[in-house]
Amino acid sequence: MRDSFRLLLLPGDGIGPEVVGAARRVLDRAAEHFGIGLEYEERGIGGTAIRREGAPVSDETLEAAKAADAVLLGAVGDPEFEGGSVRPEQGLLALRTALGTFANLRPVTAIPALIPSSTLKEEVLRGVDLLIVRELTGGLYFGEKEEAGESGDRASDLCAYTRGEVVRVARVAFEAAQRRKGFVTSVDKANVLATSRLWRRVVGEVAEEYPDVSVEHVLVDAAAMYLIRDPGRFDVLLTENLFGDILSDEAAMLPGSMGMLPSASLGEPGRPGLYEPVHGSAPDIAGTGVANPYAAILSAAMMFRHSLGRPDVSGAIERAVSTALGAGFSTGDLGGSKGTEEVTDAVCRWMAAGEGVA
Ligand code: NAD
Ligand code: IPM
Ligand code: MN
Repeated sequence: MRDSFRLLLLPGDGIGPEVVGAARRVLDRAAEHFGIGLEYEERGIGGTAIRREGAPVSDETLEAAKAADAVLLGAVGDPEFEGGSVRPEQGLLALRTALGTFANLRPVTAIPALIPSSTLKEEVLRGVDLLIVRELTGGLYFGEKEEAGESGDRASDLCAYTRGEVVRVARVAFEAAQRRKGFVTSVDKANVLATSRLWRRVVGEVAEEYPDVSVEHVLVDAAAMYLIRDPGRFDVLLTENLFGDILSDEAAMLPGSMGMLPSASLGEPGRPGLYEPVHGSAPDIAGTGVANPYAAILSAAMMFRHSLGRPDVSGAIERAVSTALGAGFSTGDLGGSKGTEEVTDAVCRWMAAGEGVA
C-alpha cells in the first residue's frame, strides 16, 4: 500500500478555487489521519491560464499532469472569454486528450438527508444508485469543426466514433456493472445517427464477453424521461460524450444539486486519473462563499479509490460527508444555510472523529 502521492491541483475559474481549496483542506485532514504524505503542485487552467500564460492550458501544465499520480480540477469557464476563439473550456478538453481519459465515471446516489429538500418526490428518489459512464475523448466534441466566423452563415461539428473507442469505454461500464447490480443501460440515438448504430452494435458485441451482466439499449430522448420518471431502474448508464454531458446535469437533480456530483476521468491503467466535479465555474455565485464543496470533496475521495489504491481513505471521506449532511451542513443550492467553509470544517471534523461518527 503506497502512502505518499504527488497531486496536481488545477483550481481553474469562478468557484473552482473555492471548491478545490475546500477539497485540499479535506485531503490534508485525511492525510494526517491516515499518515499519508501528499505533495501538491498547483497550476492554472481555463480563463485563469489564458490571463497568466496566454493559453487555456500550457504545455508545462500538460506535462505536470502526466507526471502526477492524479489531477484534481475545479472548473473552467469565464464569461469574459465567451464566444472568443480562445476559450477556457479548450484547456479542459486538451487536458482530457493529453491524459487519454476516455471514461468518465459520474456516480449518482440519492442521499437520505437531502430527499426532503429535493424538487422530486420521495418515492421516486428512494434507493437511487446509478453510475453514468460517459465516453469523454470522442464524438462531437473532438470532430472536425467548421466555424461560422464573423460573417459566415454555416457551421458544422463532425461526430465520429471508431469501434475501438466504443469497445474500451463499454468494457469500463460492464466491469463496473459486475461490481454493482449487473445491469448496463446503453444510451444512443440509433434511430437517427450512424455513430449510434455503430455504438449499439459494438456494445452488443462487448456484452457477450460479460454473460453475468444484462444489457438494454435505450434511445437518449426516452432515457432523459426515465431518469426523472423512474431513476431507480438504472444501474450503469453507458453513453457517448455529448449525451453523457447532458444526462449527467439532469441526473444531478437526483441528489438535489449540481454541487453534489463528483467524477473520475480515467484512461489506460497506470496513467494519472483526472478528478473533477461535474458542475461548472458558476460565475453567478463565485466569490460569495456559498459554493457547495461536496462535489469537489467527493471527487477527491474518488481519487483515492481509482488512482491511489486507497479505498480506505475514500470510504472515510465519504462517511464524513454523509455525517456532515445528516447533521444539516448544507449550502444554499440544497436549501441549507451554511457556507463553503462551514461545510468543509464539518467534513474535516468528522474525519478526525475516525469512522465518520461524531
Ligand atoms: P454551472 O454548473 O457552472 O452552473 C449551473 C447552476 O448551478 C448555476 O446556478 C450555479 O450557481 C449552480 N451551481 C453549480 N455548481 C454549484 C456549486 N458547487 N454550488 C452551488 N451552486 C452551484 O453551469 P453553467 O452556468 O452552465 O456554466 C458556467 C461556466 O462553467 C461555463 O463557462 C461552462 O462552460 C463552464 N462549465 C465548466 C465545467 C467544468 O469545468 N467541468 C462544467 C460545466 C460547465
Ligand atoms: C463537463 C463540462 C465540460 C464538458 C465543458 C466545460 C467542456 O460541461 O465536464 O460536464 O462538456 O465536458
Ligand atoms: Mn457538463
